[in-house]
Amino acid sequence: MISYSGKNAIVTGGANGIGSATAQLLVELGARVAVFDREQAASAPNIKSYIVDLSDLKACEDAVNQVKRDLGSIEILINVAGVSIPNFLAELNPDSYQKTLAVNLKAPVFLMKFVGNEMAKNGYGRMVSVTSVHARQSEPASIAYDITKAGLEAATRTAALELAESGVLVNAVAPGFVMTRMSIVDGVDETESDWFKNIYLENKRLPLQRAAQPIEIARTIAWLASDTNTYVTGQTLVVDGGISSRF
Ligand SMILES: NC(=O)c1ccc[n+]([C@@H]2O[C@H](COP(=O)([O-])OP(=O)(O)OC[C@H]3O[C@@H](n4cnc5c(N)ncnc54)[C@H](O)[C@@H]3O)[C@@H](O)[C@H]2O)c1
Repeated sequence: MISYSGKNAIVTGGANGIGSATAQLLVELGARVAVFDREQAASAPNIKSYIVDLSDLKACEDAVNQVKRDLGSIEILINVAGVSIPNFLAELNPDSYQKTLAVNLKAPVFLMKFVGNEMAKNGYGRMVSVTSVHARQSEPASIAYDITKAGLEAATRTAALELAESGVLVNAVAPGFVMTRMSIVDGVDETESDWFKNIYLENKRLPLQRAAQPIEIARTIAWLASDTNTYVTGQTLVVDGGISSRF
């Protein structure tokens, strides 16, 4: 049985989707959770919302220091927040490229730095970042997003090596399709689109034949970030219904 009793966690992107499901699950399992998001998280006992623009590093560091004052210590960091701004290479826009890198890659890496020293000093910590199958498999108009997810998997490995002897385990979870608002592109839910039905369902590219619910990703995160995980570090666990298993 997983227990988060006595543990404090930061969950970025916890106002919606996968982050919200993760924050709620960790609280059900006994944690106190600080949500970092530019939107207010749903109010609930043991979930405290910190309004943070993750593209602003100073704001990230200030929020971490505020959580230390509010909760005393931070045992767990879950990096979930992300943006996906479609851009073909030929039309690549420097502003959206920079924004994608800032939120999806720079913020999670620096949050690892901001919480990692104290975790190492205390001899215990768990970090889990949400990447994507896009770290290893690409599609057009996704270059900035794909770079950030591949970079975050690399950062996960490096941080895991540096923190291993301090009792801090660092991992990532790579989802495929998840039913959140990120799946809604130009007002169309891609998991309801003909494109998705033809390629992923009828052609059986998606072996489990459905998109995931956020809680299915949250459960994997919750195991990796718990003290039940004692020997997995530096890894990315793919939770994609089997998409990446098929040739
Ligand atoms: N939905 C999918 O199909 C899917 C698939 C693979 C990976 N992912 C990844 O899962 C993670 C969560 O996405 P989701 O599907 O739950 O989407 P979502 O849009 O429901 O949630 C993303 C959250 O990040 C927050 N956020 C975005 N930019 C921010 C900023 N600058 N500052 C603070 N908060 C910010 C949003 O407010 C939101 O609460 C992302 O990293 C995404 O890349 C999603």
